[in-house]
Amino acid sequence: MRRDAEARVAELRAQITHHDERYYVHDDPEIPDAEYDKLMLELRALETEYPDLITSESPTQHVSGAPNDAFGEVIHKVPMLSLDNAFSEEDVRGFERRIHERLSVEGELAYWAEPKLDGLAVTVIYRDGKLAQAATRGDGAKGEDVTANVQKVHGVPPKLRGKAPEVLEVRGEVFMPLKGFERMNRIAREKGEKVFVNPRNAAAGSLRVLDASITARRPLQLFFYGLGVVAGGVVPERQSALLKALEDWGLPICPDAKLVRGVEGVLAYYRDMGARRSSLPYQIDGVVYKLDSRADQERLGFVSRAPRWAIAHKFPAEEALTVVKGIEFQVGRTGALTPVARLEPVFVSGVTVSNVTLHNIGEVHRKDVRVGDTVVVRRAGDVIPEIPSVVLERRPEGTHEVELPARCPVCGSEVLQVEGEAVARCTGGFTCRAQRQEAIGHFAGRRAMDIEGLGDKLIEQLVERDLVKSPADIYSLTLVQLCGLERMAEKSAANLMQAIEKSKSTTLPRLLFALGIREVGEATALALAQNFGSLDALLDATVERIQQVPDIGPIVAAHVAAFVASPEHRAVIKRLREQGVTWPDVVVPTAASGDDNLLGQTVVVTGTLESMTREEAQEALVALGAKVSKSVSKKTSFVVVGAEPGSKAQKAEELGVRMLDEKEFVALLGKKRNAGAQ
Ligand code: IVH
Repeated sequence: MRRDAEARVAELRAQITHHDERYYVHDDPEIPDAEYDKLMLELRALETEYPDLITSESPTQHVSGAPNDAFGEVIHKVPMLSLDNAFSEEDVRGFERRIHERLSVEGELAYWAEPKLDGLAVTVIYRDGKLAQAATRGDGAKGEDVTANVQKVHGVPPKLRGKAPEVLEVRGEVFMPLKGFERMNRIAREKGEKVFVNPRNAAAGSLRVLDASITARRPLQLFFYGLGVVAGGVVPERQSALLKALEDWGLPICPDAKLVRGVEGVLAYYRDMGARRSSLPYQIDGVVYKLDSRADQERLGFVSRAPRWAIAHKFPAEEALTVVKGIEFQVGRTGALTPVARLEPVFVSGVTVSNVTLHNIGEVHRKDVRVGDTVVVRRAGDVIPEIPSVVLERRPEGTHEVELPARCPVCGSEVLQVEGEAVARCTGGFTCRAQRQEAIGHFAGRRAMDIEGLGDKLIEQLVERDLVKSPADIYSLTLVQLCGLERMAEKSAANLMQAIEKSKSTTLPRLLFALGIREVGEATALALAQNFGSLDALLDATVERIQQVPDIGPIVAAHVAAFVASPEHRAVIKRLREQGVTWPDVVVPTAASGDDNLLGQTVVVTGTLESMTREEAQEALVALGAKVSKSVSKKTSFVVVGAEPGSKAQKAEELGVRMLDEKEFVALLGKKRNAGAQ
């Protein structure tokens, strides 16, 4: 037993040291933090059981992260420590109880609770109010001199305001807000440059660079949360007051920190931050509780590498490891082949994940995901799960790079990948069952023809039985045919028939969107409708004419032109008309449009209307030649204001834009419609 433990301890230490180096030295970890925490927990448990195995070199006894020699060395006069972790309510209660026992106090204590930012710790020394030196944590005793870099971090003041101590060493976390991280990675991806796996590595990789002009271009921020050396002045006694003082001196602090009371107070804070986690502008992996009284903090002191007066309460992991069992290709509406990784099911941030999309073959190759690989699965908040990286060290022998299939896995047609395009497509068009199914689903969708009750499962059956080969076939379905489908009672079949009938009267923008022309979303469909006025005008249009529509570029114009030129699509449109699908023409604004006309006017609809939905109001406006916009500006002609309007009505008020209530709006519609009919 003991021999086993000895061997395991050695193994764990080697692994932890390896992962520490990847994380702290290279800013490029191989495994999720939660996996690292597991290794640490196991090592701690073994060391508790066999205390004589503990050595001063054990990762449990010191702060990890050797400084990089390329930077100047900075010795920390006050060591930069780490925090102990709590993973459960029980752990937190234990922490609180020990504080009470050690201080021999009863009753509730006050705690300063703050987010545990996922970035890297730095220390910044201000001498006589001026930023004099900044360093990373390094191994806790000595770090790297990153003065030039920290000076470039957004919001870090070169000089303090007011009367700060002569020497003030402040500590905090450099991090990259999520928006900036996503933007930076998007740009890097477009340029084919290195993308960072997560905001923490992006922050570390942006700060720890020898050329500080790189740091200046990165969207970094720093929140201060603690102290190092203080001389020639006093600082407040309470952690909460200290943070307030830092703020008064002009140092940025986290706006989401809070003073709470007792163990119930800290746990409530944990739950609250957990609920807000996915909507925060920065990434956090837990919250930190610090005893508010700094005198008590001092009395409690430290154990090995962490203070007794603070603890990090971690959130459930958003990342986990699992194995790829297979990689399949799904065929979408436009024939796009999407690789999907089938995974050994894994539990991440509250759900079991067994499939993850890999977007396109280029991404599979860039990440080099292979069947048999161990991969990191990430699911942050409500975000769709993704595979940020592969653990190459765990790749078994005999794996192969994933190849794009030469033929469509559904219909066997040739697969084409156009030069310079990321997406590969099945060339089968409507002959491909998968494309047909997706196209019909899109056609029937709520924002398209809005056929209520025609869901995926039904469409699958209709396509499989060849009852629906193109969207037009929906309108020749009979009640008998519908009743013959699985799980279809007569009543629901009749309802569906009714919904199909109702969908026949639609609008031009909806129809154009429903047809599923490549790259034509709702906004483009609306622009086309407003510009051409009728479907016939669009059917006769040349690619040059289509490109004249505002916001339509050459690629979209080419897709639209190819669509309207295709005999197959023209036949579908003809049949839709024959089956009684109708849509009114849209009035095209002309230069002659008068002032009291809706032609060419820009209208915003906000709040809840009683007599119609917002979509109906917008459609009515479009049919009368108005342009519907989502946001209010000086150019807005008027705003239709329903009940409980939001900020848009306020903005209109501020800008002095005309506002119409529902009654006025309905009257206006009536007047215009009548005028149009004459
Ligand atoms: S206090 C002695 N407060 O977490 C106190 N640390 O696991 C040491 N961190 O090295 C740190 N947010 O990089 C503290 N609000 C916060 C924090 C925080 C993130 C990081 C910091 C530290 C690590 C410890």
